[in-house]
Amino acid sequence: MTASTLPLDVAHIRADFPILQREVHPGVPLVYLDSTATSQKPRQVIEVMDVFYRRANANIHRGIHALAEEATAAYEDARAKIARFIGAASPREIVYTRNTTESINLVAYTWARRNLQEGDVILLTEMEHHSNLIPWQILAAEKGLRLEFIPVTEEALLDLEAYHRLLERHRPKLVSFTHMSNVLGTINPAKEIIAAAHAVGAVTLVDGAQSVPHLPVDVGELQADFLAFSAHKMCGPTGVGALYGRMELLEAMPPFLGGGEMIKKVELRSFRTNEVPHKFEAGTPAIAEAVGFGVAVDYLASLGMEAVAAHEREIIAYALERLEEVPGLKVFGPSAEHKGAVASFTFQGIHPHDIAYELDREGIAVRAGHHCAMPLHNKFHIPATTRASFYIYNTREEVDKLVETLYKVKELYG
Ligand code: ALA
Repeated sequence: MTASTLPLDVAHIRADFPILQREVHPGVPLVYLDSTATSQKPRQVIEVMDVFYRRANANIHRGIHALAEEATAAYEDARAKIARFIGAASPREIVYTRNTTESINLVAYTWARRNLQEGDVILLTEMEHHSNLIPWQILAAEKGLRLEFIPVTEEALLDLEAYHRLLERHRPKLVSFTHMSNVLGTINPAKEIIAAAHAVGAVTLVDGAQSVPHLPVDVGELQADFLAFSAHKMCGPTGVGALYGRMELLEAMPPFLGGGEMIKKVELRSFRTNEVPHKFEAGTPAIAEAVGFGVAVDYLASLGMEAVAAHEREIIAYALERLEEVPGLKVFGPSAEHKGAVASFTFQGIHPHDIAYELDREGIAVRAGHHCAMPLHNKFHIPATTRASFYIYNTREEVDKLVETLYKVKELYG
């Protein structure tokens, strides 16, 4: 593939990311391969937040003054952009949260706590991030719910035949699953999983933390009931995320946190809740961050999510090809066709922390450990992996640098 036929103009994109111009050690440029943990931010996002604090800072929905109106408009405009980005029918279906974890907890503490009864089943998968596991464990202990799990096959895919059997046997009230694994990179067939869940009357929650930044995701097409995602993994700031919820579900749900903004009327012993989505947004939110989130979405939309996904397919295919030629290295996860741009690997018994340390000396940032997915690592009988993950700004040359450095690590520790 020549530069002109590549799906993204990566050189142009890299120029938008100030951090990619820095050296991490004297004379050692940054090779950032940890976007699954958090992505880097383009100058457009950094600048809009700077401008917000310089020119428009005020609290939202409160003061009747020019700055408060500007801040409120910017905050609500960003909500509308986020809604459009994931194909929501209305901006009111987007609730701002702190991140994916808080979005999932919101559903656990409101919808699930209200609607699930002792003995009800929540169906999860064996490849969940702790954020789509612990909230359900906590609620299950509180209410006597049962958790069941869709198994992961040796090929690192969900066992869909087992899924259909589990649906029949347990008739779950909720099916909550990751759209894309943060360890294996497996892209799960969300539309098919949701349709089958709906056929037995279950509500569905999609953990979109890894899919929304990397793939075209449309809630109308998927027919998802809930979708949780974070700004910081998709070129936006930390501290803000979103929960998409189908309007009739949001309308019927009790509030989450109590405080200012989520109420319409308050008396000493009672209150009446505000409209959706404000009902779920108690307290002063991350306003500048929400505005930054809106610009991050603009940035990705201007590249086109089909092009983003095509770039990542190309880079992960190349990375798998190069990594698999390194003797003693084993990449976990499915074949490239089912996989996002994540390569978690073991390397002939060398501790992932040692690998990450040696890579860092060459400026290469990766994550090492269990990546908040201990049960999944247990399933594959490995305590930890080293994870290289790729995004819109990564190049084949960076993959080459990774592989070259891994050969040096092999010499040192092998
Ligand atoms: N979920 C993030 C990761 O996988 C933090 O690194």
